[in-house]
Amino acid sequence: RVAYVNGRYVPHVHAMVHVEDRGYQFADGVYEVCEIWHGRLVDMKGHLDRLERSLRELSIAMPMTRAALTAVMRETVRRNRVTEGMVYLQITRGVAPREHIFPPASTRPAVVITAKAFDRIKADKQAEEGVAVITTPDNRWERVDIKTVGLLPNAMAKQKAKEAGAKEAWFVDADGYVTEGSSTTAWIVTQDGALVTRPNGTGILPGVTRQTVEEVARRDGLKLEERKFTPEEAKGAREAFMTAATTLVMPIVAIDGQSVANGRPGSIATALRQRFHEVAQ
Ligand code: PDD
Repeated sequence: RVAYVNGRYVPHVHAMVHVEDRGYQFADGVYEVCEIWHGRLVDMKGHLDRLERSLRELSIAMPMTRAALTAVMRETVRRNRVTEGMVYLQITRGVAPREHIFPPASTRPAVVITAKAFDRIKADKQAEEGVAVITTPDNRWERVDIKTVGLLPNAMAKQKAKEAGAKEAWFVDADGYVTEGSSTTAWIVTQDGALVTRPNGTGILPGVTRQTVEEVARRDGLKLEERKFTPEEAKGAREAFMTAATTLVMPIVAIDGQSVANGRPGSIATALRQRFHEVAQ
């Protein structure tokens, strides 16, 4: 395996960043995860748009053009011979003596890109079974709309899910509404067949996969309701599912140990998963 680190392709085992990298000390950086499908990067426009927005919110300069970034991501995929998998891209504010105040604007952002294969057959099998989620209080900061590498609450929530035998943890805000999963967008399907997901801009990361799924839904004439929902509504829903570049549309069959509908993946989630790559760019 090779990784791209600040302009060079290096063996993955030797891919290092400096101890004074601000990503390491302050979680002062952002990232993107893109799916590789049949050797192609999926939904790059959405990921690059969100990357630029995240960087802008943190006043970190784009380290290279979108075209150059895309080329390096493709080259990393090629050098790793990945046809099904994902690319990880991380940009931090760079290396500077530890000091909370931002270093001079001339500091070069640090760019790391890796590619990893994943077992699509296994993932599809999991989607045929469906997965379980738990709920947990949302204890993150207020700017989770920025895709920063500050993921400790997310990691802790995911670990809690694992220990409960579940695949994902859904965060619940102080008013009792589901925000999102620790690394996925949360959805339900109402008894009358409407897709429900929380509006962007209020305590969630705007999902790129979500955008494409919404496009699939529009094309297929499904009803879409952007509104909040509670764990209780989700438990009584016709279907529940999650989306992310890493999971695509993944049916949820249990929430906090309680079956959703008959405990089998729903037909709408299953259809959305199958249709996804026909619509994704
Ligand atoms: N996570 N919400 C959170 C908190 C996320 O971390 C992610 C993605 C999503 C879904 O976004 P998208 O559809 O653009 O992948 C929602 C990535 C995959 C990760 O951290 O591994």
